[in-house]
Amino acid sequence: MNDTLLRSVLAGYDFPGEPTSVTEIKTGHINTTCRLTFREPAGTRDYLLQRINTFAFHKPEEVMENVTLVTEHLHRALVSRGMDPENRVLRVIPTREGRPLCYDTDGGAWRAYNFIAHAHSVDAVESPEQFGIVGRAFGDFQSMLSDFPIEKLHDTIPFFHDTIRRMDNFEASVARDVAGRAECAAEEIAFVRARREAMGRIVRMISDGTLPLRVTHNDTKCNNVMVDDVTGEALCVVDLDTVMAGSALYDFGDAIRFGASTAAEDERDLSKVRLDMDLFTAFTEGFVSRTARGLVRAELDNLVLGALVMTFEVGLRFLTDYLDGDVYFRIESPDHNLARAKCQFKLLSDMESHRAEMEAVVHDIVEKHL
Ligand SMILES: Nc1ncnc2c1ncn2[C@@H]1O[C@H](COP(=O)(O)OP(=O)(O)O)[C@@H](O)[C@H]1O
Ligand SMILES: [Mg+2]
Repeated sequence: MNDTLLRSVLAGYDFPGEPTSVTEIKTGHINTTCRLTFREPAGTRDYLLQRINTFAFHKPEEVMENVTLVTEHLHRALVSRGMDPENRVLRVIPTREGRPLCYDTDGGAWRAYNFIAHAHSVDAVESPEQFGIVGRAFGDFQSMLSDFPIEKLHDTIPFFHDTIRRMDNFEASVARDVAGRAECAAEEIAFVRARREAMGRIVRMISDGTLPLRVTHNDTKCNNVMVDDVTGEALCVVDLDTVMAGSALYDFGDAIRFGASTAAEDERDLSKVRLDMDLFTAFTEGFVSRTARGLVRAELDNLVLGALVMTFEVGLRFLTDYLDGDVYFRIESPDHNLARAKCQFKLLSDMESHRAEMEAVVHDIVEKHL
């Protein structure tokens, strides 16, 4: 953390009291995050200060407009449910000029939030119970935002989950074959092509109005849920940079893809890559218990499709980047992106062969909560 830069940011805010410490939080991978502690007459108060990664987010002003609208809506929803919003929702702390962003002397964009106190996030779930709590947190998030005026959100990453467009881009990459790798990826290319029709269904159901647009978080990993240090219950969903209009199936599906897999995203021993049914069941129970009455039938009926499509889409992105010569994802070996694609496709194959079982689990849970 550069001291001069930090001082230039702090000067932009009107935090009450004296700053006593700045500690960097290293669990995230996208933004630079630190905890600021101030001494006030009544004790100490913490804030979260973050530099937005403008490589990932080209329009930080639009990101912050989305975050402000969504957090204000969540705040109102918590109050109307009789809950104290203080430690349960992010609140954007304005700069001295009343703005949500503060630019440092290098042009970096920073924002400040209330610090979610007496809480932590976990990088990997340790038990189905813990994953169930994460499911409830993202379910509550979805449900509290069910009456959000969706047209107000900026599309900060256009076509993010447009699976059909991603398949078209993929075909263009196969045709160009700039890195001369199409031959090494023949099996994976065939795997994608065989699923072209099936994996475009969510996009088509949004276009024809079968699926409604919802506020989607778009990064439903367990380390974006703050849980109470003492009770272990979820307090607050964080990391709202990717909130956009999308389908509830994306958030459900991506949480399953990432959190219910038995292996890391780039595991090379494919025999280790499977869907953990206990984790799947626990997350589904948590998520559906909070959303069953708010989602429409077409959403509840297609949750499993959400998990399949998100797994396909991420695999497709890795494969496309491999064919393009590794221009997007950071790699640690020349075939890293191909290994990642194989891993996602193995997970997808496992979901496909257990699809009936997954559908039955969802069906029973939905019926229980309707
Ligand atoms: N307002 C907050 N209060 C306390 N801790 C937070 C807050 N926001 C984020 N964190 C912690 O910092 C980590 C990184 O922040 P996050 O916004 O998720 O950044 P990234 O986009 O880099 O993942 C989170 O996983 C969480 O543990
Ligand atoms: Mg995060």
